Amino acid sequence: MNTVLVTGGAGFIGSHLCERLLQKDCRVINIDNFNDYYNPYIKAANVTEALKNIQYTLVKGDIRNNSVLESIFSRFDIDTVIHLAALAGVRKSLSNPVEYIDVDIKGTVSLLEYCRKINVRKFIFASSSSVYGRNPLPFMEDDNVDSQVSPYAVAKRCGELFCKTFNTLYGIPTVCLRFFTVYGPRQRPEMAIHYFTRLIDEGKEVPVFSNGTSSRDYTYIDDIVDGIVAAADLQCGFEIFNLGNSRPTQLDSMIDIIEQKLGKKADRNYLPAQQGDVEYTCADITKAMNVLGFSPRVGIEEGIERFVKWYKSQSIL
Ligand SMILES: NC(=O)c1ccc[n+]([C@@H]2O[C@H](COP(=O)([O-])OP(=O)(O)OC[C@H]3O[C@@H](n4cnc5c(N)ncnc54)[C@H](O)[C@@H]3O)[C@@H](O)[C@H]2O)c1
Repeated sequence: MNTVLVTGGAGFIGSHLCERLLQKDCRVINIDNFNDYYNPYIKAANVTEALKNIQYTLVKGDIRNNSVLESIFSRFDIDTVIHLAALAGVRKSLSNPVEYIDVDIKGTVSLLEYCRKINVRKFIFASSSSVYGRNPLPFMEDDNVDSQVSPYAVAKRCGELFCKTFNTLYGIPTVCLRFFTVYGPRQRPEMAIHYFTRLIDEGKEVPVFSNGTSSRDYTYIDDIVDGIVAAADLQCGFEIFNLGNSRPTQLDSMIDIIEQKLGKKADRNYLPAQQGDVEYTCADITKAMNVLGFSPRVGIEEGIERFVKWYKSQSIL
């Protein structure tokens, strides 16, 4: 990996990834449109560290804009594309499915088109555990994945299928990574750990869906970045990997840990499950361990402790 195009590099996962790639002496180009899915000032803060590095170029633009892609691919000798830009998040996809199709499917295909023209060495696609829908646990890469329960999840599955088809047609070495609920510093503000931490900190009521009994395979950001970098270095044709922690945590227990790390009690309001939610996730990571050497190191207690420390450092700024 020498020159890497990261899409969505101002977001939560992308900003951590760009910093890691710069540490590895890569030339990094980040294209991000700083959309207002959540406050764009947060994204501006996410890129401040990377902007100090002369090996980093920030392009404020949209992956659906052909002239922006044209200028990036003609200006830089890109060998690897790591495609994270998306409308991420299940719930908003229920009220706005068309926009999800536009960004998450059409945007992905536009990018694949450029990648085939310049023969990139590797294409990495950020997929999601949501493609498994309500399959039995643990989720495995070769499970049947034809029953998603949200427009977001279907869009991610379509992205995977386009990746596979472009690999078949044009031979682009491609890896689809199915991330399992990623958390850590800079986590998107609407995601559960971040959202609950803020509500508890501010003494507000915490909506506990599925009566607190759902469970998620929360995966720490540094472990996810390890997996992405390993996938970028892998010699392959087309592969799909789960990147998860493989140790699910119940919603109620997750809130217990936040309370303990924050030193404040939650005012819990127990509610039924929400439409579009998958109540249980757990990754089988055998394939990622064997092929990528993936080995998640940060457990939920330590991960939430690190998150809360970061959260507190933000609130005093
Ligand atoms: N965070 C998770 O738990 C998780 C789980 C599974 C999959 N994923 C996937 O990982 C990727 C990154 O997720 P995240 O949590 O960092 O989300 P994020 O919203 O923080 O980052 C996505 C970035 O993409 C940018 N973007 C969106 N549309 C764009 C467009 N048309 N052109 C250019 N930039 C655009 C946004 O401005 C944002 O900065 C997404 O593809 C998401 O679906 C995330």
